[in-house]
Amino acid sequence: MEQVVGKVAFITGGASGLGLAMARSFTGAGMKVVIADIEDAALEAARVEFDDTNADVITMKVDVTDRQAMQKAAEDTIAAFGKVHVVCNNAGVALSGNIADMSYKDWDWVTRVNLDGVVNGMVTFINLIKSHGEGGHFVNTASMAGQVGMPGLSVYNTTKFAVVGMSEAMRQDLEPFGIGTSVLCPGFVATDIYTSERNRPDTLGGVEASGFDLAAQQDGDSDPERSEALQNALATMMPAEIIGDMVLHAIQKDEFYILSHTEFKEGVAARGQAISDSFDFWANYRREHNL
Ligand SMILES: NC(=O)c1ccc[n+]([C@@H]2O[C@H](COP(=O)([O-])OP(=O)(O)OC[C@H]3O[C@@H](n4cnc5c(N)ncnc54)[C@H](O)[C@@H]3O)[C@@H](O)[C@H]2O)c1
Repeated sequence: MEQVVGKVAFITGGASGLGLAMARSFTGAGMKVVIADIEDAALEAARVEFDDTNADVITMKVDVTDRQAMQKAAEDTIAAFGKVHVVCNNAGVALSGNIADMSYKDWDWVTRVNLDGVVNGMVTFINLIKSHGEGGHFVNTASMAGQVGMPGLSVYNTTKFAVVGMSEAMRQDLEPFGIGTSVLCPGFVATDIYTSERNRPDTLGGVEASGFDLAAQQDGDSDPERSEALQNALATMMPAEIIGDMVLHAIQKDEFYILSHTEFKEGVAARGQAISDSFDFWANYRREHNL
């Protein structure tokens, strides 16, 4: 979708971090943007920011796990801007810890937002984009955790691998309708993802439940000085603005993978090599056993 001026983008989790960076890049390129998010304060800050720039932006409080709310958001988007061309299924939450310690509430919270939320974005918007015939683009935010399994990230990994798989398949399904697909797989970016539990519903553990602890991901132990460790870590991470611009470029060039963090290239290649080696291992096994 080379020509983006005047096109309409709907971004879930758009009020902070990567989603907000996308909104800034998109409006900078002349697009109209709907920012959908669950967090009131972040939505209000985004509204004020874009009011000041006179960009064509509207903000909506939408929980991506709520299918009726997503449908209503789509209707409100059409009422405001007439059409939708780009949907960024970006809202996400993170949780770390050993899989042995993960409860059903942990699994339910993360899978409902990170996986069901993307499914809801697809089902809500595909036919709306198809119907106007002008083409469009979906950007699904996965993660490097959708490319390689990492210790302490089992729940998050599960959802992000699923989003990568969905994206690879839907790209082929939607191509005939002139609808492109990209899957965003960043490494660490300086956003609020590391305090995701701020949006964790009470029914699924609430804000006091465990969240994303970088130390727990690395060595399995919870860091007692989490906040200091987090601030130090954030200072070393990629700024979100870079990702916003990369996503815009991917939409314009119909580039499928958005792989921003080259430091993960070897790990991803090693995973691919291990899979390839396994084909050889089992081919040998069948030969040796005449199977
Ligand atoms: N920051 C990173 O290092 C990183 C790396 C890889 C992937 N990601 C992914 O990027 C995406 C964006 O995260 P971020 O890093 O910008 O974090 P963030 O916390 O800054 O932004 C996530 C946004 O999603 C919103 N959100 C949470 N639950 C929601 C719900 N149920 N409905 C609607 N909105 C909801 C939050 O309010 C927040 O504004 C996520 O899918 C995340 O998994 C982030």
